[in-house]
Amino acid sequence: MTPTLAQRIQSFYDESSGLWEQVWGEHMHHGYYGLDGRDRPNSPQQAQRILIEQLLAWSGVEAPASILDVGCGIGGSTLYLAAKYGASATGITLSPVQAQRAQARAEVHGFGERVEFQVADALAMPFADASFDLVWSLESGEHMPDKTQFLQECCRVLKPGGRLMIATWCHRDLAAQEALSELEQRNLAELYRLYHLPYVISLADYGAIARTLPLQDLRTADWSRAVAPFWDDVVRSALNPQVLWGIVTAGWKTVEGAFAIPLMQDGYRTGLIRYGILSGIKQ
Ligand SMILES: C[S@@+](CC[C@H](N)C(=O)[O-])C[C@H]1O[C@@H](n2cnc3c(N)ncnc32)[C@H](O)[C@@H]1O
Repeated sequence: MTPTLAQRIQSFYDESSGLWEQVWGEHMHHGYYGLDGRDRPNSPQQAQRILIEQLLAWSGVEAPASILDVGCGIGGSTLYLAAKYGASATGITLSPVQAQRAQARAEVHGFGERVEFQVADALAMPFADASFDLVWSLESGEHMPDKTQFLQECCRVLKPGGRLMIATWCHRDLAAQEALSELEQRNLAELYRLYHLPYVISLADYGAIARTLPLQDLRTADWSRAVAPFWDDVVRSALNPQVLWGIVTAGWKTVEGAFAIPLMQDGYRTGLIRYGILSGIKQ
């Protein structure tokens, strides 16, 4: 029987998250290298923390008391934000391995009951309407098979006056009647296969979906130049023989994930891959 997309995403993160944490730490997202990509933070981990701070500043997040991290990985952002704001926070992921590891990290860091992690689907979240002051999602939108439902669900669980902040992989914006070239479609298809993505859309498409929702102060920006150097850091770290061995022993899905790195570098170089950010306030 062919595994479903959700099963493939789950086993990819179940299998690869331990190695990622060992090599790159608790944040499973790009780093920020200055708006033009020329800054050189001390480490990829510092670049990742800077990305979170830049996103908070850009979106104008103000002291949320309750936070939902949609597609939380091992809780890198969840714990960072819960600590920064003294807030309660919930993280959801499809991967039981990630949820357990995130919960264990929360306990080690003494968050007690104010932080919890669940295995749950972002497209049907087990939360009442208007539950959170901040809905935060870093680099999980690209995994969602229905982008409209993803944004609708994020908006549904936000309290009125609460802030939505999404950062997600996109393809380039298209002019009216324009289509991606065959080569671009082939490159994307390979990325989808290796990273278990159903498809990506453009930032303009995300903006159009968001405009159908009860959101005000709606903003989008393309931060591709700011984050693209992250992949050079990933390659540098992966060239260490211990890391290469770790990739091989983690399993086939992780090895395939490593094959996607040059495709991401090439995608940013040619402009096919874009890093889209979107923010709004629930009306
Ligand atoms: C690249 S990781 C990003 C993790 C985290 N946001 C971070 O930046 O450290 C993608 C995450 O999205 C989650 N994810 C993908 N599809 C999901 C879905 N339908 N529902 C909930 N989580 C999902 C995966 O389980 C994984 O935790």
